[in-house]
Amino acid sequence: MTTTTGQPWSPSIWQTLPAGQQPDWPEPHALEAALRELASQPPLVFAGECRTLRQQLARVAAGEAFLLQGGDCAETFAAFSADGIRDKLKVLLQMAVVLTYAAQLPVVKVGRIAGQFAKPRSAATETVGGTVLPTYRGDAVNAVEPSERARTPDPRRLVRVYHQAAATLNLLRAFTRGGFADLEKVHDWNQEFVASSPQGRRYAALADEISRALRFLQACGVDVRNDPTFHTVDFWTSHEALLLGYEEALTRRDSLTGDWYDCSAHLLWVGERTRQHDGAHVRFLSGVGNPVAAKLGPTATPDDVDALAAVLNPDNEPGRLTLITRMGAGSAEDTLPPLVRHVRDRGLAVVWSCDPMHGNTFVADSGYKTRHLSDVLTELRVFFGVHAAEGTVPGGVHVELTGEDVTECLGGAQGIADLDLHYRYETACDPRLNNKQALELAFQVAEMLRG
Ligand code: PEP
Ligand code: CO
Repeated sequence: MTTTTGQPWSPSIWQTLPAGQQPDWPEPHALEAALRELASQPPLVFAGECRTLRQQLARVAAGEAFLLQGGDCAETFAAFSADGIRDKLKVLLQMAVVLTYAAQLPVVKVGRIAGQFAKPRSAATETVGGTVLPTYRGDAVNAVEPSERARTPDPRRLVRVYHQAAATLNLLRAFTRGGFADLEKVHDWNQEFVASSPQGRRYAALADEISRALRFLQACGVDVRNDPTFHTVDFWTSHEALLLGYEEALTRRDSLTGDWYDCSAHLLWVGERTRQHDGAHVRFLSGVGNPVAAKLGPTATPDDVDALAAVLNPDNEPGRLTLITRMGAGSAEDTLPPLVRHVRDRGLAVVWSCDPMHGNTFVADSGYKTRHLSDVLTELRVFFGVHAAEGTVPGGVHVELTGEDVTECLGGAQGIADLDLHYRYETACDPRLNNKQALELAFQVAEMLRG
């Protein structure tokens, strides 16, 4: 494979280009040692899995499946626990069931998990109590505590990220293959604190219907008990490919096809700040065989999309490229249609997904960074409306959520207000929907999908 400059692609090609958002690692030797160690570790995911996900995303592009991608804004070392992973999986399975049932479409489930540890920042420094400090760039780079020592990038963290990702993935594989994701357990995914809420009750009613349908199928002679379709799910991992040294170290050649795959996750995306078509991040992703995605904010132009598609998906293969729009509720009506029309008229094969979170962040009077569920739902409604009007496929949603009862986003049936945010504001970066808000969103999206 060659790049647009004619130079052959290699996992280190990005080093020849300007790369934004890379930390100032203080000790080059320590960084080299960490990257060498990573390069010697086994892959986290396998090329064949990435190809299966590409096939599933091709079905999404054709309107034959729906993409649900979600998880933390930033995973952390401190919040790492089996219960946390299980509860995140539970809420994603609940949402997927709601969407599958409503849309009568398979749902492709992708976590922002097992590798989502690095954050792009608008500023390299911040002033805390009169001291200028490097900004927190995610647990992959430095610690959130506001001290010079904690904020100094430490490359040994990259190795810790790898091991936490491996343990997370191991548990996810066990949960999704070992009976936890069994459709006959559909009731068990409703956590106790959710079950008593309006969304939880609505979910329980739907779960009753599913259980009845399974008994009906069994009675008709379908071997529900022994057919693996009913007892396991595919669950894929994803994160922003931000720290290119880490991604390079985990990029391996597939022994079957000879192609390169970034084996740190099934799907990788470039963020709004690093999506330049001639930049290091996009050039890196151009050479790996994984399905890839790019975030598109309100300043994205049709030319940007053309250039991205030319570099990331030159053969125009459905399932390879997902475009995740994050315009903001106030701007999506103006900024989304020109992009959608252009892609349609050019015949570019993409999955359109909506991230209704990142364009709707603001600082509340209390000082907390937050989002209002009503803005999130408004952007989703605009997304579905635009695709309906243009005759294109609204392929999926991309959300920041957690399985816990946090108070980070405003609104929802619980009516979380600014004064409530301090109760359980635990995110390391952006505010996440809690379990009930996430379920509420799933029911709303299900109606939009049906509508
Ligand atoms: C994110 O997904 O956490 C993020 C930083 O998004 P964006 O690149 O769209 O701002
Ligand atoms: Co975020």
